[in-house]
Amino acid sequence: MNEHVMDAAFRPGGLDRAKQGVLGLGLDRIEGPAKVTGVADYAYEGTPDGIAYAAIVGTPVGSGRILGIDVSAAEALPGVIAIIHDDARMPAGESNSRAMPLFDTDVILHLGQPVAIVVAEDQAIARDAAALVLVRTEAGEDRFDVEAQPVDTAPEIGFLPPINNGDLDAVMADAAVTFDRTYTTPVHFPAALEPHATTAWWEGDKLTVRSSNQVIGGARKTIAKALKIDADKVRVLAPYVGGGFGGKTGVGPEAILAAIAAEVVGRPVKVALPRRQTAYMVHHRSHTTQRIRIAADEHGVILGMGHESVVAQNDDGEFLEPVPFGTLPLYRGDARRFKTDLVRVDLPASGAVRAPGEAVGTFGVECAMDELAEQLGIDPIELRRRNEPETDPVSGKPFSTRRMLDCYTQGAQRFGWPDTVPAPGSVRDGEWLVGIGMAASLRGNFTVEAQARVRLEADGRATVECDMTDIGTGTYTILAQTAGEMLGLPVAEVNVRLGDTDFPPSAGSGGSFGAGSACSAVVLACEDILGELALRMNAAPEDLSLHDGCVSAGGRSVKLADLVRGEPIVAMGKTGPGAESKRTSQASHGAHFVEVAVNAVTGETRVRRMLGVFDVGRVLNRKTATSQITGGMAWGIAYALSEEGIVDTRTGAFVNPDFGEYHVAVNADIPQLEVHFIEEIDDSANPVGAKGVGELGISGAGAAVANAIYNATGVRVRDFPVTLDKLLEGLPAV
Ligand code: MOS
Repeated sequence: MNEHVMDAAFRPGGLDRAKQGVLGLGLDRIEGPAKVTGVADYAYEGTPDGIAYAAIVGTPVGSGRILGIDVSAAEALPGVIAIIHDDARMPAGESNSRAMPLFDTDVILHLGQPVAIVVAEDQAIARDAAALVLVRTEAGEDRFDVEAQPVDTAPEIGFLPPINNGDLDAVMADAAVTFDRTYTTPVHFPAALEPHATTAWWEGDKLTVRSSNQVIGGARKTIAKALKIDADKVRVLAPYVGGGFGGKTGVGPEAILAAIAAEVVGRPVKVALPRRQTAYMVHHRSHTTQRIRIAADEHGVILGMGHESVVAQNDDGEFLEPVPFGTLPLYRGDARRFKTDLVRVDLPASGAVRAPGEAVGTFGVECAMDELAEQLGIDPIELRRRNEPETDPVSGKPFSTRRMLDCYTQGAQRFGWPDTVPAPGSVRDGEWLVGIGMAASLRGNFTVEAQARVRLEADGRATVECDMTDIGTGTYTILAQTAGEMLGLPVAEVNVRLGDTDFPPSAGSGGSFGAGSACSAVVLACEDILGELALRMNAAPEDLSLHDGCVSAGGRSVKLADLVRGEPIVAMGKTGPGAESKRTSQASHGAHFVEVAVNAVTGETRVRRMLGVFDVGRVLNRKTATSQITGGMAWGIAYALSEEGIVDTRTGAFVNPDFGEYHVAVNADIPQLEVHFIEEIDDSANPVGAKGVGELGISGAGAAVANAIYNATGVRVRDFPVTLDKLLEGLPAV
């Protein structure tokens, strides 16, 4: 095992010497053909012999107690195999950010809480029968209305402790310029396109679960714990995942229930959550109320900043939306107060969704910066420049790499940001009001422990194996590029195998840490292989030159296949965080620039163009990295304009739990998006030098849209999304 944790800045020599030239190229996804031809196996696909189908029953009310469950009508339906509702293996409060089954309690936490699973000969029968299961309940007090609940100002949940540096109140009282406004964001659903689905089967005491999941190593442990069996009896498969967006970071009730059902009926069982059930059995992002306070001198130099929020969680949940996470290192100012308060509600769990913290926190802070710039009569980019910190303003740590100023400069130039931004509501194009806006983008960078195995096969090809997932992000491709780069192989000569807990444990896909962590493990494994090849070449590793399947040293050139001599060369790599990860403040950065047109008659907003420049460390694949960012921009546009989960405060139901009513961005909403990278390899981040990309694009994106809408119309909406009803009244006369 070639293990290298990040105790100091480090760049593997083999990576610098590599000559293949494939890492970073914008190559097509290697698994693309399998996906578009339907060969790629998703969780609900593939039908093991004797398969049975399941549907999950949820509580019909959102608070109170379960008195009993009557399955007689459901059981009488022809084709029903079993109805399970009294299995006590699933402990309440199983540590997880997702709604979990709670069969061993009669307390109702939220509407649609899973209470029974129906197994039948086909899916239609299972769903029919589920509708016939009668859950008798006793009403209780309810807390469906987030706004009506008492606020816990010292919650004991969440991973981000409050920060209280200096005396913000005193600084606010004395400052030449002050700003104090409150912004709100609504519930967001993760909204992955592939259903949350599982196929489960037992062979003796061994359970295999093919599940749509982002982090299968963690899933294996959670499933084992819930079923009270050893983790080595559980194998989780997720070779292809059709989007996760945070909703598949944990284990959903469908996975545990499918496993139990398969054991009870002695057959493989598959289950997929229908879209409307997904809103209840998968966590959502909490609504947020964010108070932003800024104290500045007369030049706009920030002296103090507060980002204080209230978010919601149910009695079982332990996740607290880390709203100010992206604000922490964003701007200077010694007095800093960042905290997140809690209201407990009787709603499905809130959890990590698409850049927890930054995605919504930037609505507050980046709209506030736009408002402050106007208040001061300063260009919004100039205001941000004046407040670019030299070291992390909370911890005082040095930044590993930070090219924020270059993102502003390049972005402004490429976008054509004017020297003087036109006055709000002053630019017209026929019946459209046209405006521009910008915002900074920041996403914390993490390195997570990850292992990978690389095998140089007898035929000179390479195989990469780890339990990483590819959730549509390009993992297969970047791992092939990394191994190809290190071993001097074209990408077609590298076979990548993912999504199986029998492979070495990796970081999984979450928190934008997957690519950097997994590729680093592959680099380290390849370094070991290079060492072995050097021995066989009677050369030092530094003297090897590898290209297109040939290795040369000392005037001799040999095919890799000849050097392997029939027995594969196998190596393991492992990386993880270390002292350097703690010594430095690490983040990816960027700046978004947007032009919108708002219809002066209807209030409809169309984003006309959007451009961003991003500092992400090493770019592993220009095409998939660009896709990651454009996906984030599309989320940001949708968060600004349409995404809004609405709670019926009478029942605790979501009014719009499907794609017909919950409006994610579609093609027609998204204009040409332009993405540029500033590539400075970050040797403090991880061995491959890549910082997180996946959740960077959404950070600040929505705020840039909102700021452009303000510039177009002169209407400042602080309650997101900016739907036309909130604009109409304030629009200038046509
Ligand atoms: Mo993410 S919200 O860490 O998948």
